Amino acid sequence: MATRVIRHIGELTTNDPTVGDLSVMGRLHDAALVVDEHRVLWTGPDARAPDADEMIDAAGAAVMPGFVDSHTHLVFAGERSDEFEARMAGQRYDGGGIARTVDATRAATTEHLRAATGARLAELRAGGVTTVEVKSGYDLTVEGEARLVSVAREFTDEVTFLGAHVVPVEFRGDREGYVELVRGAMLRACAPVARWADVFCDEGAFSVDEARHILLSARDAGLGVRLHGNQLADSGGVALAVELDAASVDHCTFVADDDLAALAASSTVATLLPGAEFSTRSPYPSARRMLDAGVCVALATDCNPGTSYVTSMGFVVALAVREMGLSVDEALWAVTRGGARALRRDDVGHLGVGARADLNILAAPRAAHLAYRPGGTLVGRSLRAPD
Ligand code: NIG
Ligand code: FE
Repeated sequence: MATRVIRHIGELTTNDPTVGDLSVMGRLHDAALVVDEHRVLWTGPDARAPDADEMIDAAGAAVMPGFVDSHTHLVFAGERSDEFEARMAGQRYDGGGIARTVDATRAATTEHLRAATGARLAELRAGGVTTVEVKSGYDLTVEGEARLVSVAREFTDEVTFLGAHVVPVEFRGDREGYVELVRGAMLRACAPVARWADVFCDEGAFSVDEARHILLSARDAGLGVRLHGNQLADSGGVALAVELDAASVDHCTFVADDDLAALAASSTVATLLPGAEFSTRSPYPSARRMLDAGVCVALATDCNPGTSYVTSMGFVVALAVREMGLSVDEALWAVTRGGARALRRDDVGHLGVGARADLNILAAPRAAHLAYRPGGTLVGRSLRAPD
């Protein structure tokens, strides 16, 4: 199999604590890295770089693992910029707009959804995302959710069934009936295609008991579980995620100290989505408090038309550093290895020997430029192993 050596790397971040400076960032300077089409084969000082079939000259640039975006809602039709404008003028987000995207998505052809999802993913990829999770959740019927997970599956293995996004209008008088539909026929239609199930467990969406019921059924159907929790209120979603050993609980905007201690003692990752606080003008979660409590933190875009139409992980890094008190390295780790942990993956999010050959060569000498130069086009070249 053809090999490639990347030479003259000014700063190499591997996230492999057994190499380089032996920190969690596994950092080397004046380094080289060898990959084949699929895997990382070697990292070390440039002076000792082995020969390979092809050479890429990084010319002093920084190289880091590809971004792992562990939370997106890429499959939808329409847009809701009018809601964004209203929020900037003082209106509060309450999830009510989800129904508008459901209407637009139900009305869209599969070809349109495929093209729209592909276009959004192309934006994420241009910004250095090499692994992406994609949720359903904007149809809320059995056939419709099955259609959305199938479209998502055309783009990624990390597909999440989110039939429990909100109770759709036609079930407003029969919440229980909708919960039964989600954990019955809808789950059966989506489980063969999805890897994960998610529930929006929050004020105005699903209660802790409803979410538990749905996620236990999903687990019985062989899916891994994850949760939207504590975005709008201290909803109990974090405690439920820990109880169910969910891979991740996402948003965590309002979290009490007890929940933080439970999270720190668990293997559930807290996935923070600062694009949502940015776009809803909400308080940012206290990421510093979480890290200091020993919680494993990931960062993701939450790309969706309502709360975070964000396709740049660089922007997410900048927000986390500027607004949430993360150091640059903590944010870089959270968008790579943290995202991988949130998907319970050990083959991505780092550049240790044996990892997938998913990496970004930055148009910058240090990865810190992602936070330092927000909004810039800093991913010079992205390499991604074939699926
Ligand atoms: O992650 N909170 C639930 N779901 C999305 C927003 C959905 C929407 O408003 O369209 C989120 O923020
Ligand atoms: Fe979300």
